Amino acid sequence: MTGRITGTGSWVPEQVLDNEALSNIVDTSNQWIRERTGVERRHIAEQETTAEMAAKAGKRALEQAKVDPAKVELILVATISGNEILPCTACRVQEMLGAVQATCFDLNSACTGFLFALNTAQAYLKSGIYRNALVIGAESLSNLINWKDRGTCILFGDGAGAAFLEAEESGRYAQITHSDGEKGKALTCSSRNQKQYAEHPDAPETYMEMDGREVFKFAVSSVPQVIQELLEKEKIPKEEIRFYILHQANIRIIQSVSKRLGEAEEKFPVNIQEYGNTSGASIPILLDELNRKGCLQPGDKLVLAAFGAGLSYGASLLEWK
Ligand code: ACO
Repeated sequence: MTGRITGTGSWVPEQVLDNEALSNIVDTSNQWIRERTGVERRHIAEQETTAEMAAKAGKRALEQAKVDPAKVELILVATISGNEILPCTACRVQEMLGAVQATCFDLNSACTGFLFALNTAQAYLKSGIYRNALVIGAESLSNLINWKDRGTCILFGDGAGAAFLEAEESGRYAQITHSDGEKGKALTCSSRNQKQYAEHPDAPETYMEMDGREVFKFAVSSVPQVIQELLEKEKIPKEEIRFYILHQANIRIIQSVSKRLGEAEEKFPVNIQEYGNTSGASIPILLDELNRKGCLQPGDKLVLAAFGAGLSYGASLLEWK
């Protein structure tokens, strides 16, 4: 059994913060941000919760798949920025969609979250435990960012993307993932719920903190390496890959991966200019845009690849139907 994607959806908040407006908040410039990252604007969830965005993206995916929410068996939400710890974001989504039969849980793997959630759903479908799954990546990173830190706040944005999978006998899905906890310090965000029993004056900042250069170096070596590993394992010549749908973290990282793989930049669709890095939401938002624009044809082989906090990284191969 393989999970076939029969519907995709996405949703981003209306509120837009462009680079000019951001340069009134921190010491930066439109030119610097565009040249160093490719980001031009990002969407900010001022009113919406992560769960609301996730539910809206999920609803669109179910509508496209023409599936009654009551028939959904599994809801997985990849997120690091749920607005509450309990209940999980996936259970909130279940309530909003009326997906009364679904088993629901969240998965925390930052920017590789959607990929890891997709793999998890595929494993459930392959084993026959569930027959379908709604996989969502949703983030309100604007809540985790230190808006005084120009090294991070310029990069991130909010939004959600979703894919609905239905099990079928044929089809192809393969994946390789890795985690490297020894490099975990390169990208951290402490819990905001650690000081209930005793106040610790030296408690760490509860904002996202990042060694940007370290993460950059990691990404440009690990992503092409894991893609190559996957293609070799699956014995697929790279010429057969229609698109490489990469986590949208930095245009320079995507260009470097394209160069290192010896593959044309046209095979690496980007939307980072519009949304910034939406972490676990970036791959499903891009996938939904490509799908709705009619860029994906039956039989197209797609590679999805991501890296992120953990540090972790991975790549998946799927055939579009
Ligand atoms: N505006 C203007 N100048 C800046 C800014 C800014 N926003 N940020 C840094 N600078 C300055 C620095 O102070 C530095 O100045 P100096 O040379 O006088 O010291 C100079 O620009 C270069 O700084 P670098 O940090 O070397 O800049 P770099 O080219 O590496 O770009 C960036 C920084 C964009 C953060 C890059 O390192 C990056 O994209 N790294 C990957 C980050 C990433 O992908 N993170 C997501 C991980 S996924 C997840 O799980 C959440």
